[in-house]
Amino acid sequence: MIYLCIGRRELGKTTLAYRMLRELMRRFVLDARHMIHQHGAHVETTEDANESEESMFAVMGGELEESIYQPSRSPKRSFTEWCAVLRTIVLDYPDREIGVLVDEASFYDLDDESFQWIAKCAPRSKVHIFITAHQPKDIPTSIRSIADHWFIFYTTQQTDLDRIEEKSPDAADLVRTLQGRDYVHWDDARARLSVNRYPSNWFIPLEGVTHADRSDSTGTPADTTG
Ligand SMILES: Nc1ncnc2c1ncn2[C@@H]1O[C@H](COP(=O)(O)OP(=O)(O)OP(=O)(O)O)[C@@H](O)[C@H]1O
Ligand SMILES: [Mg+2]
Repeated sequence: MIYLCIGRRELGKTTLAYRMLRELMRRFVLDARHMIHQHGAHVETTEDANESEESMFAVMGGELEESIYQPSRSPKRSFTEWCAVLRTIVLDYPDREIGVLVDEASFYDLDDESFQWIAKCAPRSKVHIFITAHQPKDIPTSIRSIADHWFIFYTTQQTDLDRIEEKSPDAADLVRTLQGRDYVHWDDARARLSVNRYPSNWFIPLEGVTHADRSDSTGTPADTTG
């Protein structure tokens, strides 16, 4: 399943994506901007590709819940390496449910071979991919066309609206009218549109302590849509 969080600066895209990711037991985060600072026994943050790979397999071994990779060098090259490891994990553990967060799509080449393979060939019910972006155009058509859920914040940019309209003209109409941190949720599989006007329902701090029991989680995004 692919989830896109799209919108202007600092409206809460990373927060919303991370909030949804946290519903899953095994999590992989690529955070080139070093925005997510989670501490706790079940999360590991690495800057080095080899250490990242080790921590990703530790997630699959059950020693960790979350592996956060904050590459210290070229985001594009780091993305390619990170996706290659993810692809191996998906192949080695086809029955395990995992969550993947790619924060700020414009840094990476989402047409990367391994990423495309994961997006298109991994079982949709098992692999949940969350992508944040400032504009729809930061996400290539190859991924936009197969995305299952769109979470879109306020925009009046015509180029953005045109791309949203390709999916849902009603969603494009609604996003122009949103206020503050409200967002539109377009469920592409069910062709369902809803608006969430309760930012406090989905807020979690990006800096904090990750607990193994995830007792701080507050339900699925659908639950908070009003
Ligand atoms: N639902 C919310 N309610 C209140 N504050 C929020 C909410 N979501 C995010 N914030 C706050 O807004 C700021 C930006 O959040 P976040 O980094 O998630 O936004 P973003 O859209 O990903 O930003 P950027 O454009 O820089 O990538 C942070 O200080 C965060 O704590
Ligand atoms: Mg962000």
